[in-house]
Amino acid sequence: MPSYDTQPTNSSETHPAVLPPADAAASQIPRDIKTILTHANLQDDMEAVERLLLKRSASQSPQIADAGAYLIRAGGKRMRAAQALLAARLGAYDFDQARHAAATVEFIHTASLVHDDLVDHTQQRRGRVTVHARWDTDVALMVGDYFFALAAAEMALCRDPRIVLFYAQAVQTIVSGELHPVTDVAPLDVAMSQYTRKVGAKTAALFEAGCKAGIASAGGSDAAVAALGSYGYDLGIAFQIVDDVLDFVGDERTLGKPPGNDLREGTITLPLIYAVAETDDAFLRKLAGVALTDPVQVKQAVDAVVLAGGVERAQAASHAYVSQAIAHLDGFSPSPARHALIELARFVVQRQM
Ligand code: FPP
Ligand code: MG
Repeated sequence: MPSYDTQPTNSSETHPAVLPPADAAASQIPRDIKTILTHANLQDDMEAVERLLLKRSASQSPQIADAGAYLIRAGGKRMRAAQALLAARLGAYDFDQARHAAATVEFIHTASLVHDDLVDHTQQRRGRVTVHARWDTDVALMVGDYFFALAAAEMALCRDPRIVLFYAQAVQTIVSGELHPVTDVAPLDVAMSQYTRKVGAKTAALFEAGCKAGIASAGGSDAAVAALGSYGYDLGIAFQIVDDVLDFVGDERTLGKPPGNDLREGTITLPLIYAVAETDDAFLRKLAGVALTDPVQVKQAVDAVVLAGGVERAQAASHAYVSQAIAHLDGFSPSPARHALIELARFVVQRQM
């Protein structure tokens, strides 16, 4: 097994505040990302990244400043920034550099969500009114562009020139992926290849870039960057599968949107693909690509997918991707940061929101 380790220089890695056993039992999965970051002594740094995001999103334009603050304060899990910081902790951690890699990924993510909600005509995200619905279409378009420019400015502060390339490639992938929906629910191999391409673009590509940027900000070798990129990519696929599963079995209050949203919009995701593969049911086949307006029909469709075992099989797939993600960390010596990345991966498959 290759070793990707670099010696930490500007790091408190050797003196963590809370030090769990190097590879503690899987049963101890933290309930939130804050706890995971604490295990790698990164909670203060994450708070500093949060302040940086807020500071940067100020603008001379009152509408952009208001909408920008609204978006940053809405928060989210900051999963991508956490990955970037944790990845950096596996190298010669330098917060002054890692923070730019971490802020960039959150700016790109936020920009993509604002534009996505605009093109999807979504009224709510995470239980809050979306920017285009609260302000208007023009403001949403401009705020998305503004955040994208904030990401560019943040990347300009990264010393390692590889980082801009990682993020540029991710944005190219995200944008192209938007134009390739999943159109077929069967046969399984065709549907799977469309689905994997779709989620690889919309979610995994940015997870991959954030992890690569994090370790690159800490002087990681190309081999270390590749390993963490693969970790991020597989984790991104698992994360999106879980998102798609929660759309069937999640709690409306926790998710901030009613279950069955994807079926309502005629979007084909993995639980439906697997349900069709398991049963070849005509009712399930007909759901693909057809928007459902009747809430009773949506409930029937959700129940049919669950009954067919589509959710269970998708959950199993997310676990397999997480195991694969964790295996990419094998070349790094046990450390609190490596342990936290493993915890983060396990957290992804057991999260409820
Ligand atoms: C969410 O998919 C999709 C994305 C997060 C990517 C959207 C990308 C663009 C609109 C292109 C613009 C990109 C940049 C970087 C400015 P979804 O609608 O299936 O998921 P949802 O349920 O979270 O809305
Ligand atoms: Mg959307």
